[in-house]
Amino acid sequence: MDPELYADGDPFEQWRWLRANAPVYWHPPAELPGFWALTRYEDIRTVYRDAATFSSAKGILLRPADHGEDPGGGRTLALTDAPRHRQLRGLVDEWFALRSVRGFEPEMTEVTRRVVDEALESGTCDFVTDVAARVPLYVICRMMGVPSSDWDHLFMLTSQAFGASDPLTQRFAHLDIMSYFEELQAAKAANPGDDLVSILATSEIDGVRLTPDEILLNCDNLLVGGTENTRIAAAGGMLAFLEHRDQWDALAKEPELLPSAVEEVLRWTSTATHIMRTALRPTEIHGNQVAAGDRVTLWLPSANRDESVFDRPDEFDIRRKPNRHLALGFGEHFCLGSVLARAELRILYHELLHRDIHIELAGTPTRLTSIVVNGPEALPVRLTAGQDARPRVTTG
Ligand code: HEM
Repeated sequence: MDPELYADGDPFEQWRWLRANAPVYWHPPAELPGFWALTRYEDIRTVYRDAATFSSAKGILLRPADHGEDPGGGRTLALTDAPRHRQLRGLVDEWFALRSVRGFEPEMTEVTRRVVDEALESGTCDFVTDVAARVPLYVICRMMGVPSSDWDHLFMLTSQAFGASDPLTQRFAHLDIMSYFEELQAAKAANPGDDLVSILATSEIDGVRLTPDEILLNCDNLLVGGTENTRIAAAGGMLAFLEHRDQWDALAKEPELLPSAVEEVLRWTSTATHIMRTALRPTEIHGNQVAAGDRVTLWLPSANRDESVFDRPDEFDIRRKPNRHLALGFGEHFCLGSVLARAELRILYHELLHRDIHIELAGTPTRLTSIVVNGPEALPVRLTAGQDARPRVTTG
């Protein structure tokens, strides 16, 4: 539970030990309330499958006891149970379906090209902030109906909200994002357009509109969901390619491997570190008695390295098949943005590959200090327009 472990240590070693010795482990209360920690693939899928027993409505992340309940509990897409969850998801899910995302691909490609052009112009950059963070933010802003003149402002605010080292700057940036969306939802309610915020601001469930608070919290859910994990996965994937250059070379030679490479990037990076559920009734997991009200945490990166499911789990292999990873969750709350996230990763790597861009490390990467999301915090790289027929990737 020490966030420093994810910045400087080896959590995979601890998960390996837990999978072998204590796969359903009761973590006693400390700063965080007590919880069960599940680290095996099959146990995690069992919990995911039973949404009637394991609720999302009390929050899906561990929170220190003195922080109180999650304000989104029972109100956002991610933090509701059936039937409300299905109703909320039904309002927006068409936007994230394969057909809609396909329709967005030309725009996503254009945005990606622009971002890569700018990174090339500056030569040395931080791949996390300057490349990986921009594409998903601009795409979700476009879908939410944020005017393009405001994208860079929101980019600055989200970078501070998630990236600033000072908690006060983070807090203020978050408040600024909230007030931005408060104004936007009022504007969209008065004058709706063809976008997600207009849908949230004007739709009804059982004849009742969402309250302004509910709209705001769901906007936050979409903005955070749409940006944070994709940023870290895109950068974590790039780092994996820098560390396994044979895999990047293979991809350059066989671009038809891109979809399976994206799946391996998702499995390998598993950026959502833990997801929580709360048991609604007494139940049993793997012979352990779980009481009603118990918190049950699912450690997704551990499931994705489970040696009983994946061959050579600690190898990064873009040809891996089958690759039924849980990086995007499973069951009723399976990631709403899964098609979008996959397209964003595919388009980004394709852009770098087919333009023969040479990428090398230009400093030491650092990792996030967090038990919620894991992966690169900074990835200094040098990008140069390639001259060879094939992209070259070196670890500098
Ligand atoms: C690589 C990128 C991504 C990863 C690793 C990821 C991971 C996840 C995971 C693990 C869950 C399940 C949470 C649970 O079980 O309670 C989830 C749900 C969700 N994701 Fe993603 N996500 C990614 C990209 C996106 C994108 C691009 C969006 C776009 C808006 C998005 C929006 C959401 C939403 C709204 C939910 C809640 C769905 C529900 O509860 O029904 N995610 N995501």
